[in-house]
Amino acid sequence: MAQIYTVLSGKGGVGKSTFCANTALALSGEGKKVLLIDGDITLRSLDLLLGVDSMVLYDWSDVMENRCDSEKARLFYDDNLQLLPAPLGTPENLTTESFKELISQYSNKYDYIIIDSPAGIGELPLIYAECANFCILVATPDNVSARSACVAGTKLSEAGIKDENMYLVINRFDPWAVKNGRLLNIDEVMDITYLRLLGVVPEDKRITHTSVSEKEIPSHSKVRIAFGNISGRIMGKEIPLNL
Ligand SMILES: Nc1ncnc2c1ncn2[C@@H]1O[C@H](COP(=O)(O)OP(=O)(O)O)[C@@H](O)[C@H]1O
Ligand SMILES: [Mg+2]
Repeated sequence: MAQIYTVLSGKGGVGKSTFCANTALALSGEGKKVLLIDGDITLRSLDLLLGVDSMVLYDWSDVMENRCDSEKARLFYDDNLQLLPAPLGTPENLTTESFKELISQYSNKYDYIIIDSPAGIGELPLIYAECANFCILVATPDNVSARSACVAGTKLSEAGIKDENMYLVINRFDPWAVKNGRLLNIDEVMDITYLRLLGVVPEDKRITHTSVSEKEIPSHSKVRIAFGNISGRIMGKEIPLNL
């Protein structure tokens, strides 16, 4: 049975989709079977990030509404990593139960299912959170993003998500900006969010909406190592945070 992770944030544009794609790549590179579900209805981006956008024929609403079988709706990045693209409009019968039923059609074929949520803790992100074993909140190291991650975490708690099933990822960390007082340091972000840290991803200008490939971001780069460490922790390895 797959472990299900939903990736959320308070504020938008903090790097959730980037995190999902790169973490999925790191996990699949370790031989794990990974299904990415793009939950960002209308604004889907994982097909672009993985470079499989020209192959999109179906999306998960087609599976939910029986227009397509579950196998056919998936796009293959490679043997270990597949993507279920997001619909362009919200399916009428979308509830926590119907989304759980969708996931159940895939969970025995994968080690990990990662759901990329839209920003905030509205109705849709909550549905995804309620379907997951773990929620990962992504925040950038600034006051606005950290405070919004705190608010999102509180809303998830109020919805019944247990604290031990929630993690924080700090994205776009830049030690120089911290030194110059332009960004918060890791302790400050943790103090504001009250969330347990899963990992820190550095700022890297090579990360764009169209490049997750090894060619553009080599395996020895700090950002790849960060995603490798995060995927290792997800797999249950003891990898120190080295803060
Ligand atoms: N670690 C990073 N370093 C540099 N740029 C990043 C990093 N993570 C994300 N970005 C950039 O930030 C922007 C928003 O990322 P995205 O993953 O689309 O955020 P979200 O899904 O939260 O809206 C994109 O242009 C992306 O390339
Ligand atoms: Mg996104």
